[in-house]
Amino acid sequence: KEIAFIFDLDGVIVDTAKYHFLAWRNLAIQLGFEFTEEHNELLKGVSRVKSLEILLNIGKVEISEEEKQKYLVQKNTEYLGFVNKMTSDEILPGVNDLLNYLDANKITYALGSASKNAPLILEKVGLYSRFSAIVDGNDVSKAKPDPEVFLIGAKKLEMKTENCVVVEDAIAGVEAAKAANMTCVGIGEKEVLGHADFVFGDMTGFTPEFLNQLIN
Ligand code: G6P
Ligand code: MG
Repeated sequence: KEIAFIFDLDGVIVDTAKYHFLAWRNLAIQLGFEFTEEHNELLKGVSRVKSLEILLNIGKVEISEEEKQKYLVQKNTEYLGFVNKMTSDEILPGVNDLLNYLDANKITYALGSASKNAPLILEKVGLYSRFSAIVDGNDVSKAKPDPEVFLIGAKKLEMKTENCVVVEDAIAGVEAAKAANMTCVGIGEKEVLGHADFVFGDMTGFTPEFLNQLIN
């Protein structure tokens, strides 16, 4: 059957979570509290504005709307400092093989990310032009777990939702994919991504055998 893929970006194509972490942690330090890698898990797949809210909650810090805007800009500026140094070396293992397989088999694919920096990141790692469609944080009004981002992706690919395969590393993303009536492959731990139809530790799980199973 005809299928199409919709990929999340952070944690699936590249590991930008480590850069988000460094930038959020520096902000927390500046505001006088600790921000751990465990805390960072809570921000995966979550929009920038929502991430700041969660961070401020962790630190029990209350600030004005104006200060929030200032810190959002500050965090993103620091994050972009890391992003601007990214190269194709940072594409996660298994991704190139998978995209080559999809190209060879004329299976189209889109990006479905909460990140407003998604187009820049894809440019940096040299993958921008390979995607048939890009849906990012600038295109959606409702964040994951709302299915909007993936529904727009399916529309852009002109594909029925039930024929779309979403690849996601975040709980909110898996929920969004299932709410969109799509097949979901989780990348991470089974205990965390239990609602996905399949879960692999990393992107090398997309073996030719598994891809055959998806298509047939
Ligand atoms: C992805 C990441 C989140 C990040 C969000 C917004 O979903 O997993 O950690 O907060 O994108 O990213 P942005 O680049 O717009 O700040
Ligand atoms: Mg992700």
